[in-house]
Amino acid sequence: MYLLGVTGGIAAYKTAELARLFVREEKEVHVIMTPGAAQFISPLTFQTLTGRPALIDQYWVSEGEKVRHVELAEAAAVMVVAPATANTLGKMAGGIADNLLTTVYLAAQCPVVLVPSMNERMYQHPAVQANLERLREQGCHIMEPGTGELACGISGKGRMPEPHEIADFVRAVLTEKDFRGVRALVTAGPTREPLDPVRFISNRSTGLMGYAMARALVERGADVVLISGPSSLSCPGGARLVPVTTALQMYEAVMEHFEECHLVVKAAAVADYRPAAAAEQKMKKENFENVLRLQPNPDILQELGRRKGERILVGFAMETERAGLNAREKLQRKNLDLIVVNDLNVPGAGFAVPTNQVCIIDRQGRAEELPLMPKEILAHRILDRVRPLLP
Ligand code: CTP
Repeated sequence: MYLLGVTGGIAAYKTAELARLFVREEKEVHVIMTPGAAQFISPLTFQTLTGRPALIDQYWVSEGEKVRHVELAEAAAVMVVAPATANTLGKMAGGIADNLLTTVYLAAQCPVVLVPSMNERMYQHPAVQANLERLREQGCHIMEPGTGELACGISGKGRMPEPHEIADFVRAVLTEKDFRGVRALVTAGPTREPLDPVRFISNRSTGLMGYAMARALVERGADVVLISGPSSLSCPGGARLVPVTTALQMYEAVMEHFEECHLVVKAAAVADYRPAAAAEQKMKKENFENVLRLQPNPDILQELGRRKGERILVGFAMETERAGLNAREKLQRKNLDLIVVNDLNVPGAGFAVPTNQVCIIDRQGRAEELPLMPKEILAHRILDRVRPLLP
């Protein structure tokens, strides 16, 4: 069960979306609002989204023996306060319990995530900073506010991060850090091979699977470098992004980071060929026929397989026929530890969809067929298989 605390700041309107994300992840969400929060957003909004009344009155007592605030505090897997105003942060830091939210905080044993949101000058005030420091010492996880346009009309630090970023942060706080100390290199997305300054050869990869792998690794405590071809996705917080365009650039970037890493997850859809020569000027259409000569790109993963040493290599394969047979051959040829095979014929699997259905094959040839699932969850299932291979 998630406890979502809402305090009286204008960013409270964004917390409705956060409640919706939490309900999707963890069915049972209880919202506690301070009386000030109810001035900014209606309790009915949260009731509608979570299917439970939003709690405001601190003297509400449950039907059982226990007082409501103790009962809520005991049942929670996590307590998140977003937005957290200077006022509520101050009360929490000082142990004041004058409403249901601050009372539950004192009784909570679970991880607590605070998302401060206020005007920049308020945020920078030594009193607020000292309170945040005290809350950190009390074990709270504090999410840095973003920089941008604030409701008071000025631009600065103090903005509440977007709901999906808060949800990612909370997931990271709750995930066991079994990849701590592991340096991982993840490649993602397509590569683009220019024909001329306007046109290129590419493929349908969007980067979803690779970015999900990078996010899952960050959540589990790994140090992550994400080498990505062109993608519209945002880099998971905590990962270092190295953007590239062509297969040759990806090759260079991978080789630069390979030495220092323990694990390589090669989810990129690298173009196997590039135009033999990219024209410097835009080609005229009448010049195209019969002139497109291609030359092979280096197989990055195969090269890594040669230089592998003690590192763990995870490859991906997209197949449309004889998936298992082709993937086993690729695993051998590229000297991989695991290969994750998508069969493009399965509906809901493959490019540009949020789900995937794969089979994971190891060096001994053992195959594990997984059901169709969201790529975020699949990324963790793949890491569950990687973990025992690492020292
Ligand atoms: N790969 C790579 N460099 C390439 C081509 C592929 O590193 N030039 C990696 C991909 O990132 C992926 C794996 O190799 O992890 C398998 O890619 P795939 O295209 O399915 O395999 P190929 O070896 O290119 O075989 P084919 O296209 O013939 O199926």
